[in-house]
Amino acid sequence: MNCSESKTIVIAICGASGALYGIRLLKALLERNTHVYLIVSSAGKSVLKHECGYKGEAFEEFLCSKGIHPIPQATLTILDEHDFFTPPASGSFRHDGMVIAPCTMGTLGAIAAGLASNLIQRAADVCLKEKHPLILLPRETPLSTIHLTNMLKVTRAGATIMPPCPSFYTGAQSIDDLVDTVVARALDHLGIEQNLVKPWAQA
Ligand SMILES: Cc1cc2nc3c(=O)[nH]c(=O)nc-3n(C[C@H](O)[C@H](O)[C@H](O)COP(=O)(O)O)c2cc1C
Repeated sequence: MNCSESKTIVIAICGASGALYGIRLLKALLERNTHVYLIVSSAGKSVLKHECGYKGEAFEEFLCSKGIHPIPQATLTILDEHDFFTPPASGSFRHDGMVIAPCTMGTLGAIAAGLASNLIQRAADVCLKEKHPLILLPRETPLSTIHLTNMLKVTRAGATIMPPCPSFYTGAQSIDDLVDTVVARALDHLGIEQNLVKPWAQA
């Protein structure tokens, strides 16, 4: 896989705790050679307000306030969670993968059941049928048998379950550093070069 070529990635931020995972992933992608399609659920926006200081302003403005700016080779397209007239809703849109960070148990359950009631669920459903990489960062604790069964179901359908469990062996000094240990694994799975965390052998 050529890691340096330009990629197109769909990111969704759902209303689970850990909105920062989605924001740090977005930052990492926009600092690289990537075209990002972003979908934030309405619950995701509520959690962003609660956890990350989002005030309901235009999302680009919010990202700017967090020091997140696309490099000239990157682009950001923000999509409404109810707009099915958008590229990720269609199997004809070729892209390099979708990450739901964080993913709620509700959205996980909907994907496992084959529902497509909003653009996040539909885009994930399309990924599974089109065999695009689909990476879910499901966040809940503890997990019920329903949650675990849904994780198994989507894994069998082709998704990757990547629980947002930070690594503490990397020398992380801040919450951002810890979050980036998870973001780094998502980038690895998307085939995007990252220098956020050194591979274990080079630590
Ligand atoms: C502050 C806050 C934190 C939440 N954390 C979680 C969570 O960690 N995991 C989860 O599955 N749901 C969590 N929820 C509940 C979801 O937001 C809720 O089920 C919502 O309907 C999910 O919608 P979505 O999947 O479309 O984003 C949380 C809600 C709030 C307000």
